[in-house]
Amino acid sequence: MPDLHIEPSPATLGATVRGVELAHLGPAEWRAIEAAFHDRAVLVFPGQHLSATEQADFGRRFGDLSIEAMAFTNENPDGTIRPVEDALVGLLRGNEGWHTDSSFAPLAAKASILSAVKMPASGGETEWADMRAAYEALDEATRQRIATLSALHSLVHSQAVAGQGASSTASALASLRSPGYSSSPDQLADPPLRPLVKTHPVTGRPSLFIGRHAYGIPGMGPAESERLLADLLDLACRPPRVLQHRWAPGDVVIWDNRCVLHRARPYDPTQPRIMHHTRVRGDPATEYAAPSRGPAHASGTPSSLTSWAEGPGRS
Ligand SMILES: [Fe+2]
Repeated sequence: MPDLHIEPSPATLGATVRGVELAHLGPAEWRAIEAAFHDRAVLVFPGQHLSATEQADFGRRFGDLSIEAMAFTNENPDGTIRPVEDALVGLLRGNEGWHTDSSFAPLAAKASILSAVKMPASGGETEWADMRAAYEALDEATRQRIATLSALHSLVHSQAVAGQGASSTASALASLRSPGYSSSPDQLADPPLRPLVKTHPVTGRPSLFIGRHAYGIPGMGPAESERLLADLLDLACRPPRVLQHRWAPGDVVIWDNRCVLHRARPYDPTQPRIMHHTRVRGDPATEYAAPSRGPAHASGTPSSLTSWAEGPGRS
């Protein structure tokens, strides 16, 4: 195999990494990959064909996992396809809106990994948008306007906007239950409050921290809040700040949830799409936000860190 080669994309984020086997990384290769992760925020590794264990082991290089290896799919074990009205399908389709994983939980995600197992004939790509470059693209007046603003982040809110009711969303989450992965309607109803501008804990670069889970900016009426968040999202998710990947089975992508948004692109819902997902927990020192109405908010103590849901996202 040729030596590791990192090819930046033409966009402001993303790189394709070749000449490496993620299941057998040497120390120098890992150092190069970690540096590229911080620089480019999205890394595409074609043709890796990792097992679930290998994918989880790769994820652990970045930190503790909240999801080791979970299938996000519209296909049942018997090969039939879940109908579009299925609660889980509703949850998955919601993630065709720009988002960052687990921002609606007190501990947002550091990184996410997806690998492709089975893809539809067309559609089903994943896109990422660079929130560092988006912040840099803002005019000074907008930067000053948002500097001290925060927004609530709620999966119940974002799924309602996508057409799914709260009970269906909770039911879909429950169907994804796995070790280290749990949720309850009460927890979902107590969204965390997160600043609109996030400083990256490693690079120090500021970025917009928005997406479909964000709503309800304190100090603004609902309409003004929604308009501001929509305007920011519209400006942010444009070329040259957007990267798209057309998946082939065996491809692996890791991205930095602290500074990029992502979304799935639509596809024929009668065709199967199977992705394997691994999620790396955020650092409590920099990715924790207390539930807005919970006791942890009053005390400032991250008491619910271990019990809170890390929500899914088809990506
Ligand atoms: Fe996601």
